[in-house]
Amino acid sequence: MPDPLRDIDAILSERLGLDRASIGPGMVPRAARARMRAVGLVEPSAYAELVASCPAELQELVDEVTVPESWFFRDGLPFAFLQGLAREGWTARPAREPLRILSLPCAGGEEPYSIAVTLDEAGLAPSRYRIDAVDVGARRLDYARRGVYSRNALRGVGADRVARWFRERDDGFEIDLAIRARVHFRVGNVLDPALLADAPRYDVVFCRNLLIYLSRDARARAEANLDRLLAPDGVLVVGHADTLGASEAGRAFVAASGRGTFAYRRRKPGEVAPAPKPAEAALPAPPPRPRPLSLAPPAPTAPTPPPSPPTASPPEDPRPLLEQATEHANAGRFGQALACCEREVRRAGPSAAAFALMGGIHQAAGRRSEAEGCFHKAIYLDPAHDEALLALALLAEGRGDRDAAAGFRRRAERALRNRAGAADKTMNPPTGGPTP
Ligand SMILES: C[S@@+](CC[C@H](N)C(=O)[O-])C[C@H]1O[C@@H](n2cnc3c(N)ncnc32)[C@H](O)[C@@H]1O
Repeated sequence: MPDPLRDIDAILSERLGLDRASIGPGMVPRAARARMRAVGLVEPSAYAELVASCPAELQELVDEVTVPESWFFRDGLPFAFLQGLAREGWTARPAREPLRILSLPCAGGEEPYSIAVTLDEAGLAPSRYRIDAVDVGARRLDYARRGVYSRNALRGVGADRVARWFRERDDGFEIDLAIRARVHFRVGNVLDPALLADAPRYDVVFCRNLLIYLSRDARARAEANLDRLLAPDGVLVVGHADTLGASEAGRAFVAASGRGTFAYRRRKPGEVAPAPKPAEAALPAPPPRPRPLSLAPPAPTAPTPPPSPPTASPPEDPRPLLEQATEHANAGRFGQALACCEREVRRAGPSAAAFALMGGIHQAAGRRSEAEGCFHKAIYLDPAHDEALLALALLAEGRGDRDAAAGFRRRAERALRNRAGAADKTMNPPTGGPTP
């Protein structure tokens, strides 16, 4: 990466805490080039100066680089859990203070509006709750306030709910005006220690599908902030691939939900429980009788590394690292398999192939949430990685989340169809003349 882009990368890392291994090396240069075109600059150094001196341009770049993908009732279970909590804790206790919920990050509003619908369906009057929704992307918040969505954003919503809560228009589906009025949006950063400093603490904080993209240091800062924002007996809801435990505060949470681990509360004094989803916990020893993996060696995405300089024994295996990883995995040597993948990521940078393979290895070793984290990183780097999409579909099915599973399956099928179409074109290039 040329130096000016490295400066921009450093500013963004500081600002957003993104983990380069998760977002891939091409993301920041791509976003910077798009913004340079938008503002009419050709010199990366001039653009780096602009970003450093102009907060509005930094905000534009942040909007360009973040991944706002979201949809209504994403993953299903957290909303069913919230409905139970609201019914028991608030609908059934009319004298209680209003329920306070934070959706951070809220992307284009799909999550906080789903929360509002959930509370309405739990029989809670609008005066009995408050929903705040925060995201670092200002453009996404404009989109959220507009409240009009594509059919794709409704893929987790049953027909009854679509009919009840949305109005079809020429340009999409508009969320019910009353629901829209119940969500308070504002720009904010999960890493900012002053975020919502003036707000009373929240009973429930949704922080889903963000921690997975943060570096360990940024996750520790985010956890400290979430801890500050959550009421003492509050519930923290994370995405199933997010990990807690990068900080003391994060390690103090224990699972609060039954099926599927997504809701956490603070451990009570004296309560002995392991921290949930420890992010960097040592990998457990492989099971005594390893299940065979039928992982085909992935096609190398980068040229074979040059032979290493001679070292003391044992001699370096000259084969591509991902091929070696596959062989170790098939023999049940999961630790060595992961070590090869990690070396490959350090050598050639993050790739969808490496993360998909790591996902398969974790899955074979019975570590579902680590597996999901890796498969998510793979599809972040290559949204059409059909193997990772199919693996995510199976994992979602295993959790009983049929909507998410169906979504992943559809995406995998689309990716396979597109690939088959591209292969057809290569084998039968168009001749330019009419087909007989
Ligand atoms: C994949 S979306 C998740 C949205 C929603 N919670 C969900 O699970 O569907 C990730 C969002 O995180 C936001 N984001 C990224 N870094 C952030 C930060 N440091 N603080 C707040 N939001 C951030 C992005 O703008 C994006 O909208």
